[in-house]
Amino acid sequence: MATLSVLKADTGGYVGHSATHPDLVEAAETLLKGKKEDGTLLDFCVGQVGDDVALILSHTRGAESEAIHRVAWEVFQQTTDVAKRLKLYGAGQDLLSDAFSGNLKGLGPGIAEMEIDERPSEPVLVFLADKTEPGAWNLPLYRIFADPFNTPGLVIDPKMHDGFVFEILDLKADQAARFKTPEESYDLLMFIGAPSHYVVRRVLRAQDEEVVAATSTQKLSLMAGRYVGKDDPVMIVRAQSGFPAVGEILEAFARPHLVGGWMRGSHVGPIMPVGFRDAVASRFDGPPRVACYGFQLNRGRLVGPRDLFADVAFDPARRQAGEMAEMMRSMGPFEPHRLPLDEMEYTTMPEIMARVRDRFVPVEEAPLEERQEGTAATGR
Ligand code: F6R
Ligand code: MG
Ligand code: MG
Repeated sequence: MATLSVLKADTGGYVGHSATHPDLVEAAETLLKGKKEDGTLLDFCVGQVGDDVALILSHTRGAESEAIHRVAWEVFQQTTDVAKRLKLYGAGQDLLSDAFSGNLKGLGPGIAEMEIDERPSEPVLVFLADKTEPGAWNLPLYRIFADPFNTPGLVIDPKMHDGFVFEILDLKADQAARFKTPEESYDLLMFIGAPSHYVVRRVLRAQDEEVVAATSTQKLSLMAGRYVGKDDPVMIVRAQSGFPAVGEILEAFARPHLVGGWMRGSHVGPIMPVGFRDAVASRFDGPPRVACYGFQLNRGRLVGPRDLFADVAFDPARRQAGEMAEMMRSMGPFEPHRLPLDEMEYTTMPEIMARVRDRFVPVEEAPLEERQEGTAATGR
């Protein structure tokens, strides 16, 4: 049984929060090469999207292995050192603690892991997103595993015909629940339609409870209690032969949807599917991006990656995302381009409110003109 662990962190941006520096990637690759040679890892690939570096690791140590999490911790410490030497932006931004205590969960990096009993052929897709949050996967996961207009296999592949089970997390209450589609689709949608509150953590095939998708569900802002950068999620999805086809999985990104997390983690924008070359975030620090690394697993080895969104057939989706970005930008500091007050990651609201609090009076009391005579608010 092989385990796939994808661990992603922003340990320094180049330039600003737009991309990663090649020296960080080189440092990660050098360290991971040693870990492959000494047998800790079966294989690895270093991925990039925006200002994040993702470690895609295969091994035989199971999910939440201390040895594997320690490797990732060492890599992120080292990339942080390189970032500090180069004075890159926000060096070590996603590492919330200086000490490793056996598990990276809760320390900052986004983590998705899956134990895979390798089939005769095992295609696996790894999605990396920047300038957004884990709930960004909710809509595409619904399309992939519950919408026959996206995934004809739900209707015509006998192995998928029984549907899928969605495991969701309530980020605010720290609770989990399961819903089975198609029977409970409407119940499921009530929750996952609120992606900043409920996120899909895993999807299982109903017939045999095989895990087919896993996401990172950390939410940095809730973890740190203050702004520490968006959580920039990752996702692993297995494909083909009784699971959705590669093209059914990718199709869920062909009509871009709106997600939270653009500029200052405080704006809504379209998520744009991009090839590796375009996996940077410059315009208004975005718009949010998603890249897809395709692999064939071969006895735990990662054969790949293939750059699956590089296909020119995704050009219309990119164009549409560009148009949606333009529309959203025209609204400037107004919702729904700006996130609601309680979801913004930067806010001066408490300061502004403290300064003007005495201007707010119960509406039924004396007219404003009398109470606020002489203040700027009256306009006199
Ligand atoms: C970072 C992000 C960016 C920053 C913005 C301001 O992931 O979303 O939009 O929030 O560039 O960054 P600071 O406050 O670091 O100057
Ligand atoms: Mg950053
Ligand atoms: Mg990022």
